[in-house]
Parts: sequence; C-alpha cells; structure tokens
Amino acid sequence: MSLLNLLWLGLWPGAASLWLILLVAGASWLLARFLAWTYTFYDNCRRLQCFPQPPMRNWFLGHLDLVPPTEEGLMEQTHLVATYPQSFKTWLGPICPVITLCHPDIIRPVLNASAAILPKDIKFYSLLKPWLGDGLLLSGGDKWSRHRHLLTPAFHFQVLKPYVKMFNETVNFMHGSWQTLVGAQKVLTSSLSHRSLVSLDRMGKLLHCFLPSSCRKPSEYLAGILELSALVLKRYNRLFFLRLDFLYHLTPDGRRFHRACRLVHDFTDAVIKKRRHTLSDQGIGEFLNAKTKAKTLDFIDVLLLSKDENGKQLSDEDIRAEADTVMFGGHDTTASGLCWALYNLARHPEYQERCRQEVRELLKDRQPEEIEWDDLAQLPFLTMCIKESLRLHPPATSISRTCTQDVVLPDGCVIPKGNTCVINIFAIHHNPSVWPDPEVYNPYRFDPENIQKRSPLAFIPFSAGPRNCIGQTFAMTEMKVVLALTLLRFRVLPDQREPRRKPEVVLRAEGGLWLRVEPLVEGPK
Ligand code: HEM
Repeated sequence: MSLLNLLWLGLWPGAASLWLILLVAGASWLLARFLAWTYTFYDNCRRLQCFPQPPMRNWFLGHLDLVPPTEEGLMEQTHLVATYPQSFKTWLGPICPVITLCHPDIIRPVLNASAAILPKDIKFYSLLKPWLGDGLLLSGGDKWSRHRHLLTPAFHFQVLKPYVKMFNETVNFMHGSWQTLVGAQKVLTSSLSHRSLVSLDRMGKLLHCFLPSSCRKPSEYLAGILELSALVLKRYNRLFFLRLDFLYHLTPDGRRFHRACRLVHDFTDAVIKKRRHTLSDQGIGEFLNAKTKAKTLDFIDVLLLSKDENGKQLSDEDIRAEADTVMFGGHDTTASGLCWALYNLARHPEYQERCRQEVRELLKDRQPEEIEWDDLAQLPFLTMCIKESLRLHPPATSISRTCTQDVVLPDGCVIPKGNTCVINIFAIHHNPSVWPDPEVYNPYRFDPENIQKRSPLAFIPFSAGPRNCIGQTFAMTEMKVVLALTLLRFRVLPDQREPRRKPEVVLRAEGGLWLRVEPLVEGPK
C-alpha cells in the first residue's frame, strides 16, 4: 500500500510510515514462517524417502481412503504387508505423512521406547479425553508412570483370582438365556454382536469386578458407556471440523456425548465417595481384613489404598479417570476376542472338538462344573486356539504414536521427530514373511516349540513394552472361562452369512457375527 493511500485514509505521514513498517514486518514474519515450514517439510520428505510408498490416488488426497475401515480395507492391508513386509509410508492428504510399521524386528525400538519419547498419537485419543480424563490410556510422562506403578497391583493374580468365580456365574447366566432362546428348536442362530455378549456377560462382570454391585443404576451406567463408545467412533469418522470441540458440542451428538459423560462420571464419583466413607468409618485395618476375608478386594479398593513412595494417594478425580479407562479398555476388546474365537472354532470343528475333550477331561467328576483359577494352566490347547484367533482377528488392529525425537529403526531408516507412526498389529499378524499362510487358522503355531522359533513381537494383540495392556491376564482369564464352559455345553456351528470384518475401536463384523449354537447338555442349573 502506498504512502499516498495511507494519507488518503486520513493518517498523518508519521503514522503512515509506522503502519508501513508494521505491515512489512508482519509480511516478513509470515514469509519467514512459510519458508521455514517449507524447508522443514522438504527436509522431512527427504528424510522419509527411505520408506517405500504405495501408489497415491493423487497429490492432494494422497492415500486417503486407501484402507477404509471395511473388509476391503483389511484385504488391502493384507496386500500392502505382502508387498512391503517391513514398513511403508502413506500420505493423509498433501502434507501429513504416516509411517506404518508391520514387522516384529522393526517395531522393537518404537514399542520399547519410553512413554515420554513416543507418546500416544492424539488424533483419535483426544476425542476420549472428556470421558477418560488423564487415565492410563491417555496420560503421558510422569503422571502415566506414577499411575501405572500404582495400578499394577490391581491386576496382580491374587486380586484377579476371586474374579474367576464371578466369570463362572455370569457365563452360567448367559448360557441359561441361550438355553431359553433355543427352546424346542434345538439350534439357536444368533448374532454374537458385541452388544449381546457385552450386556449379557462382559459388562456385568467388569462392573462387579471393578465397581461394587451395590451401586445405583448400573444399567444406566452400562448404557452410558456403550453410548459414549459409539459416539466417539461416529465423531472420528466424521468431517474434520467436527473434531473441534466447540462445534461438536453444538450438535445433537455433542449434547448426547456431554450428557452421557456426566452420567458416567456421576456414577463413578458416587462409588468412590461411598467407598471412601466406608474406609474412613472402618479404618484401614478393619477394611482390609473384611475385604481379604470375603475375597472382595477390587480395583477401586486397590486404588483407594495405594500410595506412592512419598506416601501420596490418588485423588478422587484420578481414581475416576482410571476406573472409566479400565471400563473402556476392557469392555469391547474382550467381547471382540471372544466372538472371533467362537467364530474360528465354529469354522474348524476338529479344533473345537479337541478343546471340548480337553475341558471334559479337566472337569470330569466335578460338580458343579466350574473352572477354577488353577485350571487355567490345564487348558493348553484351548489357550492355543484363543491365541491363534487373536492373531487372525486382533481386537485392536493398530495403535499409533507421535515421535518427539528421531527414532532409528533397526534397518537404518529414521522416523524424524514430529511424525506419526502406526504399529499395525493386524498387518504384523498377517505378514507372510513372519507367518507362513497367514490367512489359515492354525492353533499349532502356538505350540511351545513353534513359539520359540519366532520373535516375541510377532504376536502382539495386547501390544508390548512399557505401555502394553495392563488387563491382558484379566482378558485371557475371562476368555478361557467363557470358552471352556461354552464348548462344554454347546456345539458352535457356522452360519451361511460370512462375516465382513469391520475395524472400528475394536474389530467387529458388519451386522454382527452370526453363528449357530446347539446345546449338548441340559445347561447350567
Ligand atoms: C482381548 C482383550 C484386550 C485386548 C486385545 C487389549 C489390547 C490392548 C492394547 C493393544 C493396548 C495398547 C494401547 C495403545 O498402546 O494405544 C491396551 C492398553 C490398555 N488396556 Fe487392554 N486389551 C484387552 C483387554 C483389556 C482389559 C480386560 C482391560 C482392563 C480390565 C484393559 C485395560 C487396558 C488399559 C488400562 C490400557 C492402557 C495401558 C497403558 O497405557 O499403560 N485391556 N490394551
């Protein structure tokens, strides 16, 4: 703008030159920022050249929609990992590269890095923040290490042991309702949707394990959790601008999310308050004695009693975040694992029969037919079948991290600081250079002899390294109890409807996973 124009605007010459200086300074700053950004972008592209890149749709869209969350997307992933068995680079639009890692040797430095160097990638996880707060899944740095340390005892086998009884009871309840549904038809065709398994079995169990049964309105709480999960996923798959909080909260879904969050938080808060009250009334000694005697020490108790090395306890807000996180982390994942394990056994009657014989042998002469903690190690073939199912159908198909430092991979490639990398669990489990005939369901891959021949990172349904799944023993215990009793009492048969896999927060089947169940005995009394 010329000096003359500024004079015309009514500014005196001194002010006009001041404006001009500010304008030039502003423009130079913007130009400098743009040049710096261009240089950084160019440098990043150059450094990422060591990663192979599948063909793009075009320069603007990059690889967007290359692997949609559908059956076709998963088939494309299988194809990609066969072509690029170590790692590859894709572009989400013109300026956002993502490095996908799909080989056990390559993921080692990423999984073993500390949570401070490779924190969780916030694209998806930030949507969970209003619900889960600073719980284990979302927190980072010192807070995460302190909480992980304090939470670990809550998953100790001594705490988990009494849950086995509860797993038996809820599976009996589930089978009771299957028997009623079967009625005179002899065969029940049922969609093992996550909702049905979750509501009949899993959620009730988790709720009793982690929150006391005396709580008010547990069913509303369960409904709240299911609604929150569905809303988070819906938002993630929506247009980018709905990721902005202030816009989202103006939408009907945003308001529903807010209401469900409040309901879930109020519920957890009430539980914690009540427990604190009992603790202060009884005193730690009596409280612990009563709980140990009744074998009802649970997750909330462990958190309430835990103290770090400086004697500092967790605040109520921290405990709430952890309880909500555990409910989120555990409710759909195990249901997904169970559904797919039943599906794989339905498709392979020979393995199903071998599992059944194993359970019959274990429980012969035992009344009531109940799986106990010590039995869990006596079901080696069933365990192999579950593991092979978790390989073929991992509930969590991928996890992602942001690099806050350059990460050097074993093949010499470097993921430069600032980039996002995806540890593609599904691709690792379907990598033909690690798993011969990866699409074949073959439990013998998990024969102890065969395990030794593979990298421990070839099978990572629960992730690995310092941020692995804290609930994996809990999940495996539950899956073993549910499957053992189910196979003892029912024959599982495939339905004509072949499932189309759908990777959402967990791996599902479009329209539910349809199976037929045929009672073998009268069912639990
Ligand atoms: C088959 C069942 C399950 C599978 C496949 C599974 C898988 C995973 C995976 C892959 C992660 C790593 C997430 C990431 O790095 O972003 C994870 C973390 C986690 N899981 Fe699980 N999980 C299962 C069951 C459970 C259960 C039953 C609980 C609780 C009772 C649980 C609680 C958690 C928590 C709290 C974390 C965060 C740990 C941390 O960052 O320190 N999970 N899980």
